[in-house]
Amino acid sequence: RIPLLIDTDPGVDDALALLMAFDDVRHRIVGLSIAAGNVGLEHTVANALKLCEVAGVDVPVFAGCASPLLHPARDAAYVHGRDGFGDTAYAKATRQPQAEHAALAILRLSHEHAGQLLLVALGPLTNVALALKLDPTLPSRVARFVVMGGAITGHGNITPAAEFNIAFDPEAARIVFEGFPHIDLADWEATMAHGFAHDEFERWLQADSTKARFYDSISKKTRDWANDRRGDHWHSADALAMAYALEPDGASELAERPVAIEIDGRHTRGATIVDWRREGGAPDNCRILMRYDQAAFERRMRAALGA
Ligand code: BDR
Ligand code: CA
Repeated sequence: RIPLLIDTDPGVDDALALLMAFDDVRHRIVGLSIAAGNVGLEHTVANALKLCEVAGVDVPVFAGCASPLLHPARDAAYVHGRDGFGDTAYAKATRQPQAEHAALAILRLSHEHAGQLLLVALGPLTNVALALKLDPTLPSRVARFVVMGGAITGHGNITPAAEFNIAFDPEAARIVFEGFPHIDLADWEATMAHGFAHDEFERWLQADSTKARFYDSISKKTRDWANDRRGDHWHSADALAMAYALEPDGASELAERPVAIEIDGRHTRGATIVDWRREGGAPDNCRILMRYDQAAFERRMRAALGA
C-alpha cells in the first residue's frame, strides 16, 4: 500500500478529507502532521486525535508550528467554529500526540518511505516549509506532493486575491512552491466547481453510521454559514484535494504551469500567480487540477461518511 502522510489543520473540510483517506484501501496513513490554520494548534491537534478516535483509526499525530513563519495571521474560526469542529463541546480523545515535532516527523517519514511517499497538505504550509528549510533534499524522497491551496485566476476566498491556506502563511508557501519541483495543486476555484447540492449532502449525513453522525454534528455551523454565503451547494476544498490525491485518474483536466507566491503585494499578498503564457521562463512547477470526475468524487465522499 502507498504510504500517505497528511499535513492538516482540522477544520471541518479537513475532517471530511481525513475520513476519505481513512477509508481508502490502497493507501496506508503513516502520520498526520498538524498545522495551525483554521484555528489554533491546540484545537487542530485535539480535533485530529478526536477524528481518529471516532473513525477507529490509530495513526500517529504530530503537532507542528503554532503560528506562521513570519507574520501573525487570522484564523478561520468564523467558518469552522472557535474550536475548528463546530463548537459541539465533544469529549476529548484519550490519546495524546507524539513528542516529535511535525517538521521532524515529515523528514523522518520521508526517509523511511523514500521514493514512495504520498504527501498531502491540506492546511497552511508552515510545517512543510520548515521541514524543507531543515533539509532541502526532502522533495527527492517524496513520490508525489498534493497541495490544497491557491486561487489560480485570482478569485480568493479570504482576500479578493488569495486563498486561505496560502494567505495564512505566504512565506511558507513561497518556500514550498520554490523548493518542490512538482506540486499537484487543487485550488479554491476547482473546489467551487465541484460542489454537491446541500439537500443531497444532508441526506448522506443522515446515514446510520458513526462517522456520518459525528460529521453531521461538527459541520452544522459551517453548513449554515456556507448556506448563507455560497448558495445551495456544499463545497469541500480538502476533500476534493484528497480525492485527487487518492485517485489521480479521476482528474479529467489538468494544466501544467509555473506558479509563484506573492508575498509583497498590498492587495495581493498570498496570491498564487500562474504564468499562463509561460512568459517568465520558469519551469512548470505545478500540475493544476481543473476538472475532476464528479461521480468518483461523490463515491468517495459517501464512502467516507458510510452513506
Ligand atoms: C482551505 O482553507 C481552510 O479553511 C480549509 O480547511 C481548506 O483547507 C480552503 O481555502
Ligand atoms: Ca484545511
